[in-house]
Amino acid sequence: MGIYSKPVVFAVVSALVILIGTVVTVFVPMFLPSTQPVSAFVKPYTAIEQEGRDIYMREGCNNCHTQTVRPLRTEVLRFGEYSKAEEFAWDRPFLWGSRRTGPDLNRVGGKYPDSWHYKHMQSPQSMFALSNMPPYGWLAANRLDTSISFKKTSTLGYGYTEEQVKQQIAEYKAKVTAPEYDSRETRDLVTPAGLRGELTEMDAIVAYMQKLGRDVKSMEARQ
Ligand code: HEC
Repeated sequence: MGIYSKPVVFAVVSALVILIGTVVTVFVPMFLPSTQPVSAFVKPYTAIEQEGRDIYMREGCNNCHTQTVRPLRTEVLRFGEYSKAEEFAWDRPFLWGSRRTGPDLNRVGGKYPDSWHYKHMQSPQSMFALSNMPPYGWLAANRLDTSISFKKTSTLGYGYTEEQVKQQIAEYKAKVTAPEYDSRETRDLVTPAGLRGELTEMDAIVAYMQKLGRDVKSMEARQ
């Protein structure tokens, strides 16, 4: 009868077989570089984009929006190139989402000018009467808190120095407050007068929207 008449031996041997199977199929690939593709095109978030990402999480945008285009013809036609594993190399946590009350946002970067986002965030219904996205105009009344931006980027391993983070913040501030900024007029419309010379939470979320999928677009452009 062999092993079948020895329940204890059978249990131990089957546990061993399952254990080896688990190690080979789960743990070994976890440490193989080929399962963690790296692309030189995928850049970590800047300090401002990271702040925008945190606001996106705080406001629960991911409850209505996914960030992954599946490799299905209908999705690729609607949203653009399907999402690749390496695009999410810097995403901690992932914001793939599971519910699409609104459209997928993984390719939204560069789809519209900044002014479109300012207007849409302030009042989605002014652009799409039937939109059930809540208005987020009040984000423009909140000064952006960048006091722990450096701590965030270093904890997440983006590799910026404190100087670089300060520079990113100063550069973005200079960009959106400059008279020649192409979305200046709309930004001024949605931002309270006292905060027009500052960075607001709205600016950060717009920066984050414009980053989504941009790396892949630049990769395709150079191919
Ligand atoms: C209750 C669900 C809901 C929530 C929460 C929500 N949205 Fe939306 N969103 C929608 C819907 C529906 C649309 C499509 C209609 C429209 O554009 O307003 C949309 C559209 C968008 C678009 C335009 C996408 C495109 O390709 O045209 C962007 C960008 C966007 N949302 C960003 C956000 C951000 C950022 C947040 C969080 C601050 C957020 N949404 C929260 C439902 C939601």
